[in-house]
Order: sequence, then C-alpha cells, then structure tokens
Amino acid sequence: MISPPPGMERILFTEEEIQARIREVAAEISAKYQGRPLKLVGVLKGSVFFLTALAREITIPHKIDFLAISSFTSRSGPGVVRIAKDLDDPIEGEDVLLVEDIVDTGFTARYLLRTLAGREPNSLAICTLLDRTSSRIVQVPVEFRCFEIPDRFVVGFGLDYKQLYRNLSYIGVMNPELAS
Ligand code: IMP
Ligand code: MG
Repeated sequence: MISPPPGMERILFTEEEIQARIREVAAEISAKYQGRPLKLVGVLKGSVFFLTALAREITIPHKIDFLAISSFTSRSGPGVVRIAKDLDDPIEGEDVLLVEDIVDTGFTARYLLRTLAGREPNSLAICTLLDRTSSRIVQVPVEFRCFEIPDRFVVGFGLDYKQLYRNLSYIGVMNPELAS
C-alpha cells in the first residue's frame, strides 16, 4: 500500500467499503440485465479501477470496451468535451452501461449519452462510482451509483490529482493547495 499523498485530509471510503458497495451494485446490474447483451463502456482513464472491480462481481456474461475523452475550458465556459479515443466496436442493439469514476457537473456524461445514443444501442444507462449531485450543472439520469460525495476534491480508486494517486485502494479527500 502506498503512503498517503501530501494534502490528504481524510479517508472517505475504505477499500472494504468500496468493495462491499460494488458487490451490491453488481448484483443489481446482474439482475436487471439478465439475458440481455450487456456491454460495459469505461471512460479512460478514471473508470478503469472501478470497471474491473465491478466486472468481476457481475455474474452474467458481458463485454467491455473503452473510450477516452478530452475536456477543456474555452471562452464559452467549461464543458467542452470530445472523444479522443473511440470504442473498438459498434454498440448497435446492445445494452450499454456507461461506467464513470465520477459524475460532477454532468457535462461529460451528457455528451457521452448523446453521442452513444446516436449509435442505436438497445438501451443506455450510467453507472458511476461517485456522484457529486451538489455540483451538477446539466441534469443527467444516473441509474446506478455507489456513493454520493460532498463538495470536496477526492482521489483514489481511479481518481487522480494531476494524473497521480489513481492506484490508492481507498478514496480520500484531498486539499489541492497542500498537494505539492
Ligand atoms: P464532469 O461531470 O463533466 O464535470 O466531469 C467529471 C470528470 O471530472 C471526472 O471524470 C473526473 O476526471 C473529473 N473530476 C471531477 N471531480 C473530481 C475529483 O474530486 N477528483 C478527481 N477528478 C475529478
Ligand atoms: Mg481526471
């Protein structure tokens, strides 16, 4: 286990709490998608740790694929998102679960839902590890969520600070001003 990064204030969810909650959500997903062509679509890189943990607890056959996005702030404001690496395969006729590390403002999720909906999946829904509804700017439907979190910056279990700390086994609140 790596030592706590500078600026780490407190642990929000331990590895055990995360695993237990993932098991519950995976059971919900397994029941809901029983007998359907399920595909988990992970958003690189943040969702990789969550997606693999979730997939291992899902008890029905399913496929996985990944895409990467880049988002940036422009003069017109935040929320400009585009696909930097697309899925390998079509999703037409499949039951797609978009797997996210965190839904924050909702811009990323809305963009991905709109983009993927145009490819005619049989169904499309979001499963997120973390949900910060207090930061929402655009409304998106979140079907499955492991944890609601407060309005503080967090790292671990896939979430990064400047690309670091994704490999922490827990999720912790970090003060970015003390981080480096
Ligand atoms: P949004 O919902 O479009 O605002 O963007 C969500 C993205 O912002 C996530 O996929 C993360 O990469 C990043 N993000 C938002 N909040 C945090 C946080 O607390 N820690 C680390 N990354 C975050
Ligand atoms: Mg990030």
